[in-house]
Amino acid sequence: MGKESGFTQQYPRIDTAPLPVEPYISAETFELEKERVFKRSWLSVGRRDQVREPGDFFTRDLEIGDTKILVVCGADGQVRAFHNVCQHRGHQVSLESEGRGCQGFICEFHNWSYGLDGSLKGMPDADNFVLDKTQLGLREIHCDLWEDNVFINLAAAPEHTLAEYLGDLGRDLSGFPHQDYAPIATISSELQCNWKLVMDAFNEAYHVIGLHRRSAPGAFNSEDNPFGHLQAVKLHERHWTISAYANPQQTPSAAAGLNIQYSAAATYVPKHSDEQGLTKLPPGVNPSQSDTWAFDVHQIFPNFSYYTANGWILCQRYWPISVDSCRYETTLYTVPPKTAAERVAMEQTIIMLWDVVLEDLSTVERTQPMLLSGAIDAFQLSDMELGIRQHAQVLAQAIGKA
Ligand code: FES
Ligand SMILES: [Fe+2]
Repeated sequence: MGKESGFTQQYPRIDTAPLPVEPYISAETFELEKERVFKRSWLSVGRRDQVREPGDFFTRDLEIGDTKILVVCGADGQVRAFHNVCQHRGHQVSLESEGRGCQGFICEFHNWSYGLDGSLKGMPDADNFVLDKTQLGLREIHCDLWEDNVFINLAAAPEHTLAEYLGDLGRDLSGFPHQDYAPIATISSELQCNWKLVMDAFNEAYHVIGLHRRSAPGAFNSEDNPFGHLQAVKLHERHWTISAYANPQQTPSAAAGLNIQYSAAATYVPKHSDEQGLTKLPPGVNPSQSDTWAFDVHQIFPNFSYYTANGWILCQRYWPISVDSCRYETTLYTVPPKTAAERVAMEQTIIMLWDVVLEDLSTVERTQPMLLSGAIDAFQLSDMELGIRQHAQVLAQAIGKA
């Protein structure tokens, strides 16, 4: 470790040995992750803005839970989640990925119909069945909200409530204006690699001076901080936060300069205006209270990255499909623009961020086949890659391999 490091030393429970490659290529580990982690943990599946009003809904493929889910806002305003499975003969009830203001759901196969609360409403030729309709609603999945984020838990009886599961991290982010942000862009992509490679790529800033030299030159490092060392790393029991450094002297491109001038939206330049109450941040945001803070990545175990910054938030999820394939999805949120200049700046924000994200994703499919070569057994990690160790350790414990 370098002389300026020291985050890892604050957490003696963290194993500092090289990190084995095996969990990234092992079908056995993948099955354990499925059964012991993803089918038991609280999983972020969307945001309240997708199910704001009664009849708003979205569906999602959840290969790692062996199911597809339907999340819907009921007539009573409550958000519920169901397996998207018709109780007649198992067809998918909703074939749409999302919708607004619907009255209920009708299965296309034989037209059984369900209410927004999942109850079975009726079926054609009902007199020809002997059954109890009250027992044949859609199978409900535990669902709860935290700061406008929709979580589900596939367990029959979750071990923790969502609030207990999020613990200190959830409490430390209370008071941030989460609800002020609206979605402006989404990317979803299937990648031929293990899901952890993708999450790892967003779990450190060590790659910034190399991989992001074109998209963000001088944004995350400076003479004072040549390697872009993180501002803070805080490990909780199962979650953790890393906070990135922003160079206060960076020279933005001409387009980015206009963005900064006209918009409170995404910028990596520290800008501590009080417009969004950011001078009164809760303890979980910019936890080291640094003047050179760019953004935080709150890593919510097992597969959700929730970014907080000055003027934007970002939700990223990494969904395992098989040991060597996954789906990456990310949505950027900003405070909705109020002027034409802010609207144009928003587009610049999107372009700026996507440039960076596409670079981040560029490495993962090049890495996965190399892990099968036998030429690398373990990853060598620096103090700046502590988040990767935390994730690996919490996962190993959860699957009984620690
Ligand atoms: S399977 Fe849905 S109505 Fe028959
Ligand atoms: Fe990156």
